Amino acid sequence: MKYRINGTTLACDLVGESGTPLVLIHGFGLNRSIWSEMASAYLPAARVILPDVRGHGESDAPAGVYSMDLLAADLAGLLDQLGVEKAAVCGHSMGGYISLAFAARYPNRLAGLGLIASRADADSPAARSGRYRLAEDVLKRGAVVLADSLAPRLSRDPAVVKLAREQILQTKPRGIIGAALGMAERPDRTTFLKELDLPVMIAAGEEDQIVPFSDAQTMAEGLRQGIFRGIPAAGHMPMVEQAEVLGRALSDFVQQMAKAGGI
Ligand code: MLT
Repeated sequence: MKYRINGTTLACDLVGESGTPLVLIHGFGLNRSIWSEMASAYLPAARVILPDVRGHGESDAPAGVYSMDLLAADLAGLLDQLGVEKAAVCGHSMGGYISLAFAARYPNRLAGLGLIASRADADSPAARSGRYRLAEDVLKRGAVVLADSLAPRLSRDPAVVKLAREQILQTKPRGIIGAALGMAERPDRTTFLKELDLPVMIAAGEEDQIVPFSDAQTMAEGLRQGIFRGIPAAGHMPMVEQAEVLGRALSDFVQQMAKAGGI
């Protein structure tokens, strides 16, 4: 389905008609189809909401910087249109940055937060410069620049790398540039995360080459209502590398939330 939100058009799939609303936000350069198999097979008790982030998949890619706050506002507008007041919001990598921005801006609409292969801190100066370089290169040479630099690091499984590469190559250059510039300016939300007093699940692939597993463990320490799920034999793409393990972890997470009356 397509929805008109904040002056742009966003695509979104719904998997399951009833149950706890659970938003899954894909990562940089990817799209909502990355979750489809996992959501259909392992999340029977949830009403799963799968948006294409602005600039990705079948959503429009307007020019501009896609701040994480703007992308969180897109999600709030989408939930309004779906008639969902409160949801569990879980994001993969860049999707996690958007989920954190949503938690900061719309705390009353959040039942629980999930960060999957993601992080709460801001970019280092070197990482930020890398984003600006990437944006310039994508402007000149297109999505292939991101496909070449990101896809090989997403997984050690060639089939997963191939799938991710295909998705990245379908992503519009304006979308890649908007998201890269938005990620570069995102704030550090480490302290915000530690102080968050609602269910938080951190899921991390033990072989992630982008977010080191030990960084995810450290991020999970001292959370008020935190659950840490380390995923063996997975890199940065656990929703396809270990769909059953991640799907069941998310299913437990939303069921516990529903039992506790959070949603
Ligand atoms: C992602 O997978 O979304 C990216 O690796 C996030 C990032 O570039 O920080």
